[in-house]
Amino acid sequence: MTYLETAAQFYSEVAETPQLGLCCVQSTPLQLPGLKIPQPMQEMNYGCGTTVHHTELSNHPTVLYVGVGGGLEALQFAYFSRRPSAVIAIEPVAAMREAATRNLKLAATDNPWFDTSFVEIREGDAFNLPVADATVDIVAQNCLFNIFEPEDLTRALKEAYRVLKPGGRLQMSDPIATAPIPAHLQQDERLRAMCLSGALTYEEYTQRIINAGFGQIEIRARRPYRLLDTQTYNLPENLLLESLDSLAFKVNIPEDGACIFTGKTAIYAGTESFFDDSAGHLLQLGIPAAVCDKTAAKLAALQPAEIMVTPSTWHYSGGGCC
Ligand SMILES: C[S@@+](CC[C@H](N)C(=O)[O-])C[C@H]1O[C@@H](n2cnc3c(N)ncnc32)[C@H](O)[C@@H]1O
Repeated sequence: MTYLETAAQFYSEVAETPQLGLCCVQSTPLQLPGLKIPQPMQEMNYGCGTTVHHTELSNHPTVLYVGVGGGLEALQFAYFSRRPSAVIAIEPVAAMREAATRNLKLAATDNPWFDTSFVEIREGDAFNLPVADATVDIVAQNCLFNIFEPEDLTRALKEAYRVLKPGGRLQMSDPIATAPIPAHLQQDERLRAMCLSGALTYEEYTQRIINAGFGQIEIRARRPYRLLDTQTYNLPENLLLESLDSLAFKVNIPEDGACIFTGKTAIYAGTESFFDDSAGHLLQLGIPAAVCDKTAAKLAALQPAEIMVTPSTWHYSGGGCC
């Protein structure tokens, strides 16, 4: 059996017998006015953060959702698009497709605005998305790509890139590891399927996104997810996993490298009313300007005494320059 087959078997089991709290962080799913989440769907919240950023879902986007689970986020995306097949959900596990279909029917009973035609569930997987090139506005996946071995992760990221329209967004939530996960845990297929041992470090994870062609990444949230303790996991030290919510944009990679926004700002504190670096960055005296990490490092090196760079907040939500 391959590790992907083990994962499929595991998800077939948890489709038939929901495991409360399997992946999710300790917070209630995003609540929206007029949205009622059926109880069985809520019990199958197998995400580790959120990919639904409600302030950014205008103009009824077409969303390709990879790994539908119980259908929770597919329903949340449908809340914004409200038209047939606006959300195309890809799922290889038959029992999971059936569970999501059941849960979405319940959602249609509970939510007058929702019609089951808004979410089209298709059989398929992350490596061969059954969708034409450059046809969707958003690709989303929650707590799935972390279970892939690194080369498969690259395949899945490239596949997401292929189906996105130019400028489109890959919206992900995944566990990341604060230190490399030792081989004995990485090779444990069941732990990997449970989103506990496949996580990469932040640096490896973001680099793979860039290697797949994405020119800009924005971090929406980063928070503690699970602790792999020394006793249970046979480790020399406790190892903290974090949950990372990110957006990656299908835009060209700038010549000097991709832009990653983590919530840093640059503030000019010199003797003039503004600072112009002649590379497109104008800093007004005393006013924070959102900058990507690459620009933050360049500005800090240029004028260390006069430019303050504030630390990453890990909840950047747009604006600024790179
Ligand atoms: C951790 S669950 C997350 C479910 C959902 N995203 C959520 O937030 O509740 C992973 C989902 O991906 C599905 N899956 C497993 N292998 C997959 C693959 N190779 N391609 C696409 N989906 C896959 C699983 O069956 C399951 O539905």
